[in-house]
Amino acid sequence: MLPRRRRAGSAAPAARAAPPDPRFPHVALYLAERRMGRSRRAFLAHLARSKGFRVLDACSSEVTHVVMEHTSAEEAGRWWQRQAAAPAPGCHGPALLDISWFTESMAAGQPVPVESRHRLEVVTPGEEPSKSVWLLPYACQRPTPLTHHNTCLSDALELLAEAAGFDGSEGRSLSFSRAASVLKALPGPLTDPSQLQALPHFGEHSQRIIQELLEEGVCEEVEKVRRSERYQAMKLFTGIFGVGVRIADQWFRDGLRTLEDLREQPQRLSQQQEVGLEHFRDLSTPVQWPDVEALQQLVVAAVDRALPGASVTLTGGFRRGKRQGHDVDFLITHPQEGREAGLLPTVLQHLKEQGLLLYHQYHRRHKAAARPQHSHIMDAFERSFCIFCLPLPPGTAGEDPLQPGPAWKAVRVDLVVAPDSEFPFALLGWTGSKHFERELRRFSRKERGLWLNSHGLWDPQQKRCFHATSEEDIFRQLDLDYLPPEQRNA
Ligand code: UTP
Ligand code: MN
Repeated sequence: MLPRRRRAGSAAPAARAAPPDPRFPHVALYLAERRMGRSRRAFLAHLARSKGFRVLDACSSEVTHVVMEHTSAEEAGRWWQRQAAAPAPGCHGPALLDISWFTESMAAGQPVPVESRHRLEVVTPGEEPSKSVWLLPYACQRPTPLTHHNTCLSDALELLAEAAGFDGSEGRSLSFSRAASVLKALPGPLTDPSQLQALPHFGEHSQRIIQELLEEGVCEEVEKVRRSERYQAMKLFTGIFGVGVRIADQWFRDGLRTLEDLREQPQRLSQQQEVGLEHFRDLSTPVQWPDVEALQQLVVAAVDRALPGASVTLTGGFRRGKRQGHDVDFLITHPQEGREAGLLPTVLQHLKEQGLLLYHQYHRRHKAAARPQHSHIMDAFERSFCIFCLPLPPGTAGEDPLQPGPAWKAVRVDLVVAPDSEFPFALLGWTGSKHFERELRRFSRKERGLWLNSHGLWDPQQKRCFHATSEEDIFRQLDLDYLPPEQRNA
C-alpha cells in the first residue's frame, strides 16, 4: 500500500508554503480532505490564508484545529487516531471541528473561541454515523438502496437523461442522471421544492421539472418527450440486443420506426441484431430471480467441468438485490492466477453440447488494454455475451393450455473471466449500478488523483498499482466509507 496521507497532502492544489508571518501564530489549521473533497479543500485553504490563517498541508503535531465536513465525532476520532501525528495517549490532540467554526472564523476575520456546538457531533453507537451523507456530492459517497422514497421524481429525471443520451447530449444526460441519483438517496420523500436548495446537482432545469411534478403531479416536458415518436423509436431500437444509440439514431433518420420496419430490411442487421430481433419478446421480458438461480446452476456445472476449483460469482443488478433485470452477469475466476486464462471456450462448448446456447459472442482477453493506466477502457476481460436457451420448469411454459408455448425462453447472460489479482476490481466494476461506477471513477480521479477501472487502481504519480484482496480494500484505499452492493443502486 502507498503512503496515502503524504501523497494526498502534496497532491492537493492548496500545497503552498504558509505565509511567513501569519496573523494568528497560535492557530494552525488542517482541513481534512476526506469528505470535503480536494477542490473544496483547496478553495477553503486559499480563503483562510488570504485572511492570515496558517493552514498546514500535512497533518502534523503542530495542528491545533482540524476542520472536517460530513463527519461524526466517532469517525473523526478514529480518523485522528490513524494519523501519524496522533499524540501519545493522555496528551491532548487538536480540536476536531465541523465547518461552522471555520465559517464563523472567516466571517469574523479571526479564530472564534471553540464552543461545544462547533465540536463534531457525538454519536451514540447504533445511531446513523453521519446525519447528512445524502448531501455528499458523489453517488459513491451516498448509500443508495434499491427502493427509495422518490421513485416518481427520479423516474422523470431519468427519462430526460435517457432522452438526452439518445440525442448525443452526454453532458445534459449526466446532469439529469446526477440529480435523479441524489433523489434516490434521500431519507424521505421530497414534498416541497424549497428542499431542493440544499441538494447537490440540482440545476435550474432539474429544479423546474421537480417543482412542476410536486405542484401539478405531472410534468408537461417529460410527458411530451415520453409521447414523442423519436423517444419511442429510440427506446424500442436500443432495447434490441446489439443495438446502440448510434445505430438506432441512423435507423430513425432513415425513417424506420417499428420492429416490422426492421424485419423488412434484414440486410441492415448484423448477425447479433438478427438474433436480438428474433428473440425480442423473451429478451425484453424481465429476467426473474428463479431464472437466475437456474442459470447459476447451469453455469457452475459447466465451469466446474471445464476447470475444477474455478468459482462463479453472481454480479450486476441481481447482486445489488434487484428482483428482476435485463440480463444476468457472472464473474468467473480461479484462486491460482493464470489457470483461468482461456477457460471460456471450453465452458461455452459444454453449454452448447447441452443445447443451452442460442448465441454467444466470445472476446478473448485484451492483454495490452487490461491495465488500469488505460482507465478510459472499462475492461478488457475474456468474456462472452450470450443468449441462453433456458429450459422452463414443467407447467410454466405458455399461458394458454390449448396452445402451449415453447418449453424454454431466451435469456441474456454475460460471462466474464478475471484473474484472481483483478477479481475485487472486476467484482466492484461489474456490480454497478452504471451511475455508481461512473461516479466512483470520477471520485477516484478528481478527489484522490487515482485511476480506477475494472482491472485495478493506478497511481499516475507513483506509477504503480494498488493491491486489493476485497472490495472493502478498494474503498479503504480510496478513503471512502464501504458501501455494500445493496447500497450501490445509485
Ligand atoms: P448491466 O448493464 O448488466 O446492468 O451492467 P445491471 O445493473 O446489471 O442492470 P440490468 O442488467 O439492466 O438489470 C452491470 C455492470 O457491469 C458493468 C456496468 O458498468 C454495470 O455497472 N459493465 C457492463 C461493464 O463493466 N462492462 C460491460 O461491457 C458491461
Ligand atoms: Mn445485468
